[in-house]
Amino acid sequence: MTLHERRDDQRMKRLSGYDDVRAAAKKRLPRGIFDFVDGGAGGEVTVWRNRAAFARPEFDPHFLADVADRDTSTTVLGQRVAMPFLLAPAGLARLAHPRGGELDAARAAAAAGTIFCVSIASSYSIEEIRAVSDGLLWLQLYLWKSDEVVARLIERAKAAEYTALVLTIDVPAVGNRERDIRNGVSLPPKIRLDTALDALRRPAWVASYLRSSTIGMANLREVVPGDVGSVAAYVDRELTDQRATWDRVAWLRELWDGPLIVKGVLSARDARLAVDYGADAVYISNHGGRQLDSSPGTLDVLPEIAQAVGSRAEILLDGGVRRGQDVVMARALGATACLAGRPWFFALAAGGQAALEQYLDIVRRDIDRTLALVGVPRLDDVDASTLR
Ligand SMILES: Cc1cc2nc3c(=O)[nH]c(=O)nc-3n(C[C@H](O)[C@H](O)[C@H](O)COP(=O)(O)O)c2cc1C
Repeated sequence: MTLHERRDDQRMKRLSGYDDVRAAAKKRLPRGIFDFVDGGAGGEVTVWRNRAAFARPEFDPHFLADVADRDTSTTVLGQRVAMPFLLAPAGLARLAHPRGGELDAARAAAAAGTIFCVSIASSYSIEEIRAVSDGLLWLQLYLWKSDEVVARLIERAKAAEYTALVLTIDVPAVGNRERDIRNGVSLPPKIRLDTALDALRRPAWVASYLRSSTIGMANLREVVPGDVGSVAAYVDRELTDQRATWDRVAWLRELWDGPLIVKGVLSARDARLAVDYGADAVYISNHGGRQLDSSPGTLDVLPEIAQAVGSRAEILLDGGVRRGQDVVMARALGATACLAGRPWFFALAAGGQAALEQYLDIVRRDIDRTLALVGVPRLDDVDASTLR
């Protein structure tokens, strides 16, 4: 082990949580890739709001409450998880870790007893990911223009025993990611003269990237003949159907008999519609602030959405969830489970499966510690009275 590697190893042992994982990823990833993951749309007001929302509620701790036997496990859409902190769908994970990508994520999620929601834009296919893990997998879809493509993908998800379908509705157009424009980021990344210098400072990532055959959209290889470039053009053209209305949710409901989740809900109005059209869960998300800037922080809209949905559906939430404490707070405000995107990408970049397992363990231990500190030993007993 070189001196440099030994120092990195020491640093990984002292990981305290998300901030360290992000800092480690920043060191390892080329600037354009780091910014692609870290950044958001426009002035990144919503990225900030997602985090700021967690600073508002206050816990109301009860002490001397016998918290010796604690339980962080719960049930999400009928499935038992060790903790309600799931991996949100994020495409092209081999950008974070060119070899491990979604395979490492699936293995780490299974080891942590939680669910990995695979993006349809994953860099390994639905089947390749299933082959390395017998853990719980969900599949996220966009509303493609072609019904046949969607139906075929759903068939493949069923065959590979993915247990829930997540329909993302917040991409009628791709958000304006100013950092990507500034950095000249194209997907998949091309090493150009002006990025070469930066890339040379990240030799490990570049070597690993050049060895990986393709980072392109693995699930679409079967439907789009040709090279990665033509897959990218296809995605640009067909990614989302701008004419789509809620009727498409009803159509999906017919095709898929497992749990159906609608992702990208930010209002009580859309939450009610999602349930009316057959969703089993409403997934509150602003795409991590990557779509419409100045949309609300997700935790800020959780109470009104929880009230609108009542017991008709479960509620999932992502956007700025970084610690176990955040999960307990979201549960107190009515969410069944939280998901996170950037954390698992950065953990993979920091150190593959091992680093992600370590991060997930930090989150689980923080949920456990928070339960002791608020005086509610079982996560399932956390409710509005846990907050002031
Ligand atoms: C690099 C990256 C790629 C993403 N790709 C997708 C995707 O393919 N489908 C999707 O529904 N959401 C995607 N998202 C959004 C995440 O599912 C999630 O909503 C968001 O990351 C949550 O915010 P957080 O990163 O603050 O946890 C992506 C997010 C990131 C950071």
